[in-house]
Amino acid sequence: MTSLDINWVRDQFPAFAEPALQGQAFFENAGGSYTCQPVIDRLMRFYHQRKVQPYAPYEASRLGGEEMDEARRRLAALMGVETDELSFGPSTTQNTYVLAQAFRQWMTPGDAIIVTNQDHEANTGPWRRLADAGIEVREWQIDPETGHLDVAKLDDLLDEKVRLVCFPHCSNVVGEINPVADTAARAHAAGAFVCVDGVSYAPHGLPDVGALGADIYLFSSYKTYGPHQGCMVIRRNLGMMLPNQAHYFNADVLYKRFTPAGPDHAQVAACAGMADYIDAMAAHHGVSAETDAGRGEAVHDLMRAQEVTLLQPVLDFAKARNSVRLLGPDQAEKRAPTVALACEKSAEDLAAELAGHGIMAGGGDFYAVRALEAQGVDMEKGVLRVSFVHYTSQAEVDQLLNALEAVL
Ligand SMILES: Cc1ncc(COP(=O)(O)O)c(C=O)c1O
Repeated sequence: MTSLDINWVRDQFPAFAEPALQGQAFFENAGGSYTCQPVIDRLMRFYHQRKVQPYAPYEASRLGGEEMDEARRRLAALMGVETDELSFGPSTTQNTYVLAQAFRQWMTPGDAIIVTNQDHEANTGPWRRLADAGIEVREWQIDPETGHLDVAKLDDLLDEKVRLVCFPHCSNVVGEINPVADTAARAHAAGAFVCVDGVSYAPHGLPDVGALGADIYLFSSYKTYGPHQGCMVIRRNLGMMLPNQAHYFNADVLYKRFTPAGPDHAQVAACAGMADYIDAMAAHHGVSAETDAGRGEAVHDLMRAQEVTLLQPVLDFAKARNSVRLLGPDQAEKRAPTVALACEKSAEDLAAELAGHGIMAGGGDFYAVRALEAQGVDMEKGVLRVSFVHYTSQAEVDQLLNALEAVL
């Protein structure tokens, strides 16, 4: 397989040519990524030329509506799902909140759901609140040493009462890539649906959601080179069965059913720029695939291969420091390059020290409070998190390791 042309990749992100950011190496990508040029171009064009109510017959409106549809059509195809199975909400947290209201109406007291203590709060807190409606909430717990979610433990929690299993594709502090297809198959065999938080995974390559078998798959476009939106795949059989959360007259339109707020037209349209970027990357690297999902998968593999190569030395560095506890796996293939470190010093102080070395990183709990507490992290100190993606260069990783060497 060809390897990623990092110079081409970085040319697609204006931030790397921005004078104000020179010398600054960006390692808070799990918080929000840089935005690719096609997304910025589309956003600008929308505000300049199409900032009118979409879907009316006049030209500016027609083009605006078509661009919003294009975003859903192309991203859905890259993820192996139907166009109307993808919808955009204000954020993933907002999307899970709405979904939880739908499940609240559909389930009956005595039914059960399974949540994890590995998730970001967005894919666990709203679900746990179903306990108020008489729903039994079962917790699928991580190993306190490794942060690992063991599917064998899930089997112990599944029975005929369980309607839904919520878990992350990848936690934003443990970093381990969870076996979604296997987990979904086990849940389905027990008669339950699955809701997968892909926010920490999608930036490393959009998955083929159709192949994974997730009933709901969520990710945030502002962490995936796009504008600030929450992207939500809901497969048709589940989406049409759950009670509609939108205006009653929109009940027949799957992509409207779980987005009660009016969409941010410009940002939805600009999401088509994410597909432009993926397609341009495929073309530049000579990727040929028979299907859109196959092309998405090939770009995913290009990104992942680059990340894995750069990540291993970071993990090796962290493992070798006695004063540092690396959360999650120490093998790059098993995880995303989202690396949380529990250190002797306060993580926020360390992040401030790193800023002095031109490293942009953060410290704290990253809203994964349950996961950090379950692993016995000192919550006063929090964790230092350094996260990167495929566009990160070897030189930036070297800068990071030198800076860590100096501050730890
Ligand atoms: C793993 C994970 N899930 C969910 C979220 C919440 O996403 P949003 O900000 O779109 O609500 C985040 C945000 O940091 C996250 O890292």
